[in-house]
Amino acid sequence: MRTMLKLGLAGVFLAGAAIAPASAGDVAPMDVKFTDDGVQASLTGAAGDVAKGRAVFSNRKQGNCLACHVNAEQKEHSFHGEVGPPLDGVADRYSEAELRAIVINSKKVLTDETLMPGFYSLELGARINKKFADKTILSAQQVEDVVAYLTTLKE
Ligand code: HEC
Repeated sequence: MRTMLKLGLAGVFLAGAAIAPASAGDVAPMDVKFTDDGVQASLTGAAGDVAKGRAVFSNRKQGNCLACHVNAEQKEHSFHGEVGPPLDGVADRYSEAELRAIVINSKKVLTDETLMPGFYSLELGARINKKFADKTILSAQQVEDVVAYLTTLKE
């Protein structure tokens, strides 16, 4: 009885801490298939939404991509970091599958040493709070939305 109560409370706590709740039918983080050409299949089985992806990109609690990347397409935001390369014309340099792989877990595609977080990976790094251990920063849908947005960044 006591154990059940504890488990129940833990469940409520974890639900409250969820950054990006998973949806049934999404590819789970550990089941993502990386190939030499990137991640071919949509994580949700559907195409992402460009406008929503644009919002996730600049949202400080979600993608927060502007913290590290210049993106001329989002001029309305004053601060653009320069930790990573500018993303202007990034769709000319990478395919959709490559962009998906970079957003999911850049360590698998760019370099092991990268400062860029894996947005759909459970390998967040040693310093991450244990309570987030089974969570991803973005949901599968948010990854697809960001990828859809990135594919519009052409020069
Ligand atoms: C903490 C900093 C940081 C954040 C936040 C970050 N990135 Fe990056 N990103 C980098 C760095 C650094 C690189 C370059 C790879 C390297 O050498 O480490 C990079 C590389 C990339 C590349 C490849 C660019 C190229 O021209 O080679 C893409 C695409 C990219 N990031 C997209 C994103 C998106 C989309 C987001 C938000 C969802 C994001 N990044 C958030 C640091 C960051």
